[in-house]
Order: sequence, then C-alpha cells, then structure tokens
Amino acid sequence: MEQLQHVAIIMDGNGRWAKAKGLPRTQGHFVGVDNVRNIAIKANDMGIKVLTVYAFSTENWKRPLEEVSYLMKLPAIFFDKFMKELMEKNIRIKMIGEMEQIPKDTAKILQRAIDKTANNTGMILNFAMNYGSHREMILAINHYAKDVLENKASLNIDEKGFEKYLMTSDLPPVDLMIRTSGEQRISNFLLWQIAYTELMFVDEPWPEFTPEKFEGYCHDFLKRDRRYGGLK
Ligand code: IPE
Ligand code: IPE
Ligand code: MG
Repeated sequence: MEQLQHVAIIMDGNGRWAKAKGLPRTQGHFVGVDNVRNIAIKANDMGIKVLTVYAFSTENWKRPLEEVSYLMKLPAIFFDKFMKELMEKNIRIKMIGEMEQIPKDTAKILQRAIDKTANNTGMILNFAMNYGSHREMILAINHYAKDVLENKASLNIDEKGFEKYLMTSDLPPVDLMIRTSGEQRISNFLLWQIAYTELMFVDEPWPEFTPEKFEGYCHDFLKRDRRYGGLK
C-alpha cells in the first residue's frame, strides 16, 4: 500500500461495549487486546509500514485506580499471548509516550518487547502508552531550549527541525487516523502530526472493529483526494 504507510487508531469503546453486554468494563479491555493482534496482523499483511495504536492517554490516569491497574496489565497479557506470532511475522514493537510514570513491571515488559523485536524489519506496531500530544510538545520544546543553551541547535528552527524533537521523529507521516465507537474528537492524540491526515470516525466499538472493516476503511482512504492545500 504505497499511499498508506502509517495508520493511527484511537481504540475507543471497550467500556461501553462491555457495559452493553452486562460485563465489567475490564472485560471490554480484555477482548480489545485480542483485537490489537487481529488488526496488527491484517495491517502487516496489507503491507502497511506503521500502525500506531492509542492504548493509554496522559488523561486516562483520571480513571478509577482499579481500571488503571487493569489497563497496566494489558501489555503483559498481549505479549504473553502474541509475542511468538509477532516475531514470526517480523513485526517490530515501538512505543510513544513517557515510560517514567508507568508501573515498573509494566515498563519492563514493554521495554523487553521493544528490545526483542528491535531487529525485525516488518511493520512497526507502535503503542501510544501514557501518551498525550500536549505533553509531547512540551517535552520537545524543553529539549529544544536545552539544545539551544548548549549550542547544539540554532535559535531558529523550521517545521522539520521541530519534528525531530517529537516522539514520532523516526516514523513516516500519519496518512489515516481512525477513531472507533462514534466519538468525534481527537483526545490529545498526535495533534501536530495530523495536520494533513485523513480522519475517519467510525461507529463500531473497538472490540467489534474487524480486520475486514479495517481493510474496507483503508480502501475508502485510497479514494480520498488529498490536496494539501494545493490544487489537483
Ligand atoms: C478505550 O476504551 C480504551 C482506553 C481508553 C484505555 P474506553 O475504556 O475508553 O471505553 P469507553 O469509551 O468508555 O466505552
Ligand atoms: C482516548 O479515549 C484514549 C485512548 C483510546 C487510549 P478516551 O476514552 O480516553 O477519550 P475521551 O475521554 O472519550 O475523550
Ligand atoms: Mg473511551
């Protein structure tokens, strides 16, 4: 998929999906974990280069402790179940967000997955964990200011110069962003990066977002006319 290198997904609706079935919200997250695998395998098979999934935002710490604790267990569940398959498929794990506040055991599991897959050359499955776009930009500005003071950067930078300080600096531009479960907002995800990204807000909650639907939305994307402010 030449025109579709990087897809970002706001995986929303786990809690509402579970509630509608009379299940605890955590059950929605548990089912959602399997779907990360299903969509990642599909995206990899389709030749997509990067799939960035919003797994935990800087605002999600506001949730009840019990739910936050469960969400922090999901990386262990995911990698226990699927690491073998990820290796077979040559998928590389990356992360954007701050490791610091993440509980030590969870951070260790994430780092281990990143290290173990570091030489894989297939699709990058990029987890946004404890990620928030405002925080990312503030960290970038602080880092840049420090570089200026230490004479490592010039006082004037352009857009490309700024992007080097973002957590996505080594990734291609986001072509398509999909949010599941009906909400039409960005919730602090990749704000700088989506200046010219195609956006899709779809109704299915994350646990019901099938690989077939994903492929369909990717084909819809190919029909869009991206003008970037110019004329065609
Ligand atoms: C997405 O599902 C997962 C996370 C935000 C961690 P939600 O937990 O937001 O589910 P809803 O939106 O409450 O249904
Ligand atoms: C966005 O979903 C964050 C993730 C999917 C990780 P939320 O459910 O946290 O967003 P809001 O609260 O509806 O904006
Ligand atoms: Mg939500």
